[in-house]
Amino acid sequence: MKYKAVIFDLDGVICFTDHYHYLAWKQLADKLGVPFDETINDRLRGVSRMESLDIILEKSSISISSEQKLEMAENKNNLYREFLYKMSSKDLTEEVSRTLHSLRDKKCLLAIGSSSKNTPLILERIGLDGFFDAISDGNSIARSKPDPEVFLNAAGILGLSPSDCLVVEDAGAGIEAAIAGGFDSAAIGAAASLGRATYNLNRFDDLLKIVEA
Ligand code: BG6
Ligand code: MG
Repeated sequence: MKYKAVIFDLDGVICFTDHYHYLAWKQLADKLGVPFDETINDRLRGVSRMESLDIILEKSSISISSEQKLEMAENKNNLYREFLYKMSSKDLTEEVSRTLHSLRDKKCLLAIGSSSKNTPLILERIGLDGFFDAISDGNSIARSKPDPEVFLNAAGILGLSPSDCLVVEDAGAGIEAAIAGGFDSAAIGAAASLGRATYNLNRFDDLLKIVEA
């Protein structure tokens, strides 16, 4: 096996919660009269909740206090969690599920490296609670992607060095975090067109060929 472990980003990689982030932020941006579209949304991928809000407010001329910002972020999170509560194991695609199980059968260790504080809820909703060998998420880090902390933390829990692990990401910030931490990376979706990752995936199960090589 080329890698002993794969560290997966969660939103936009394991499941399509990235769209729910977009819908919840869009609702807030519309209320504030701030322009928000899929291009701005791509900049929020992998970035923490409060940093995402700062990016959205770049286009706003209103002065907003830190208390108001906290309230806005909380409102967005409440909206977002309404979507999460409606998720179930049906939101885990057959392709992702099959690939994860094939990697596990090949004795590859599997971890999550996500900026999201909602990671435990999402994993529980899609039926992956307790599945991963290590979880490093928004609750256990001080600096969000592109800082490598979240992936270094995951590799540390697995007892492996970055060169033994492959990071899978849909975010430019996530690919930069992998590079900064000394990890090889596989980009999917939005990140695949940036040309910064070690590999670009057309499909999630392309991972099997990469890890086995
Ligand atoms: C990342 C998402 O996984 O988590 C970002 O790509 C999001 O868009 C970040 O802002 C933080 O998520 P949460 O669930 O803690 O608000
Ligand atoms: Mg992501």
